[in-house]
Amino acid sequence: MAVLACLNGETMPADQARVSIWDRGFLFGDAVYEVFRVYRGRLWLEDEHLGRLKRSLAELDFPAHALERLMDRVRRLIVASEIGDGTVYIQITRGVAPRTHAFPDPPVPPTELIVVKPYDDEPTARLRETGVRAITHPDLRWRRRDIKTVNLLGNVLAMEQAKRAGAYEAILVDQDGFVTEATHTSLLWVAGGRVHGTPEGWEILPGTTRNRTLRLVESLGIPFEAVHSPLADVLAADEVILVGTTSEVISITTIDDRVIGSGRPGPMSRRLWDGYRALVERFLAG
Ligand SMILES: Cc1ncc(COP(=O)(O)O)c(C=O)c1O
Repeated sequence: MAVLACLNGETMPADQARVSIWDRGFLFGDAVYEVFRVYRGRLWLEDEHLGRLKRSLAELDFPAHALERLMDRVRRLIVASEIGDGTVYIQITRGVAPRTHAFPDPPVPPTELIVVKPYDDEPTARLRETGVRAITHPDLRWRRRDIKTVNLLGNVLAMEQAKRAGAYEAILVDQDGFVTEATHTSLLWVAGGRVHGTPEGWEILPGTTRNRTLRLVESLGIPFEAVHSPLADVLAADEVILVGTTSEVISITTIDDRVIGSGRPGPMSRRLWDGYRALVERFLAG
């Protein structure tokens, strides 16, 4: 199985793809991205990811992008790579232009990159059984976290600390002591039989997995509360759960050496995990 890239419409082994040093994605992080999960060669939550990509482009005032052609290329790349379980990475930059902060005027063609890679879920599957550790870390990011840009330094620095601590994720805490989300996953927690999460807004990325999970929560008749919460509330929760494209649904059992609930994945985590798997299986059967 090859790791293939499609760069501005041209397909090649990913290692051979080259971008100019004048690309604004390289110089300014002036770029947006998406990561799709592929199950048995099929794109999961396609409309949700595409909708978020469209929104990210619009929020950053990118010129109109040919999204149908993009998705055509994505589909052809999945077939060419012969991947069953994998991920699709899409990045669109504001293009190649002399280095000045303001947008190129007139606009230049965007740089469009698609990479299709196999994904082995085995290690994560084991973690879903045991639960994972997380650390807490200051949320150093900017005030438009709702846009999926490649400006990920705040996420990168926090995740590096998590890795050094042997943890799976870092829970980000803002300057007022409120939790936001994690570096590459959304955060939910359970207290008094209710699922809680930070309200959608500039503070967090609108997670596609979170949105799908919350629709599942609603369909199961479980109450959900969107609330800005201090870290202490999350530490005192019965269960804390991460959701994301490749993580899917994973229970956090320890945060900064503090044991959460029973120290094992709790009943809500299991219910949501089972429900999520059932949604994927139903999608694949359809
Ligand atoms: C900061 C952040 N929050 C949440 C998520 C989860 O989003 P999704 O469920 O769409 O993968 C991601 C995914 O990369 C992320 O980077």
